[in-house]
Amino acid sequence: MNNKPIGVFDSGVGGLTVVREIKRLLPNETIVYLGDTANLPYGDKSEEIVRSYSKANTEFLLKFDIKVLVAACNTASSVALTFLKEHYNIPIVGVIEPAAKGAIYATRNGKIGVIGTNRTIRSNVYAQTLEKMNPDLSVKQKPCPLFVPLIEENFVDHPATKLIAEEYLKEFRESGVDTLILGCTHYPLIINVMREILPNVKLVDSALFTAQDLKDVLASNYMLCEGSDNPEHRFFATDITDKLDILARRILQNGTHFEEVSLPATPSHPPAPAMERQPPAPLC
Ligand code: DGL
Repeated sequence: MNNKPIGVFDSGVGGLTVVREIKRLLPNETIVYLGDTANLPYGDKSEEIVRSYSKANTEFLLKFDIKVLVAACNTASSVALTFLKEHYNIPIVGVIEPAAKGAIYATRNGKIGVIGTNRTIRSNVYAQTLEKMNPDLSVKQKPCPLFVPLIEENFVDHPATKLIAEEYLKEFRESGVDTLILGCTHYPLIINVMREILPNVKLVDSALFTAQDLKDVLASNYMLCEGSDNPEHRFFATDITDKLDILARRILQNGTHFEEVSLPATPSHPPAPAMERQPPAPLC
C-alpha cells in the first residue's frame, strides 16, 4: 500500500508547482501527474464542466492504483472537491484549506487578500474557508484572469505582465492586507513580479502548504512510503505542445517527459428546454 503512487491533477502545468513541493518534502514518493492541457483554462468554465473534467481526471489516475489524490488546481478544488470526496473512496487533498491555513499562520493584522481565476473567486470558497477558520478575519478577493494566459505564453518577466499585475494588485496595497493567497497554481511562476508590487505583503503559495497537508494525510493514514530512493514518476497531458515543455522545465528545472492521453469526452451543457430554443430560420 505504501509504495502505491500519489495521483496529482491540474488543468495544465500549474500543478507542477505542487509536484515540485511534494518532491522536496516527500522524496521517496512516486507521483503520477495529469495535466488536462486540452481543456485549459478551467478558470472561465462553468462549475458543471470543471466538475466533469475533475471526475475524468480522477478516474484516469485511479487506473494507476493511487493511494491518495491531490487536486492541484484551485479552480477544481473550489468547485469539485466536495463532489470528488463524496464519490471516491481514497483520501483526497485539495489546495484551498492548506493555503487558508498558511495565510492564517502568516497574517499579523488579520487582513488577507486572495487572487485566483474567475471561477475560484466567484465560488467564494476561499472566503468561506478562511472565515470558518477565523470569523474575525477580513478577506478581500480579486479575480486575475489574465495571469494564466500570460504565464502560458511564458511572459513571466515581460513588461506586459508587470503592467497587468500592477493594475490587479494595487488595490491590495491600498486596502492594507498583509498577506495574499496566490489562489492559482500558475501564480507562483510570477511571484517575483508580485513581490515588486507588494513588497510588504506575505505571499502565500498554496503549493507549499498543500505538500505539507499531503504529508500529514499520508502520515495519519500510515501511508508514507519509506522505501525507494529514486522513484519513477510519470507525467501525462491531454494535449502536448512546445509550451508545455517550456513551462514544465521552468517549474521542475529539468526535462520532463510527458505522455499524451485522451480522456473520455465529458458531457457538455444540457440542451436548452424546447420552449426556449430559437425557431429555425425559414428557408428561402
Ligand atoms: N491551475 C488553475 C488553478 O489553479 C488555473 C488555470 C486554469 O484556469 O485552468 O486555478
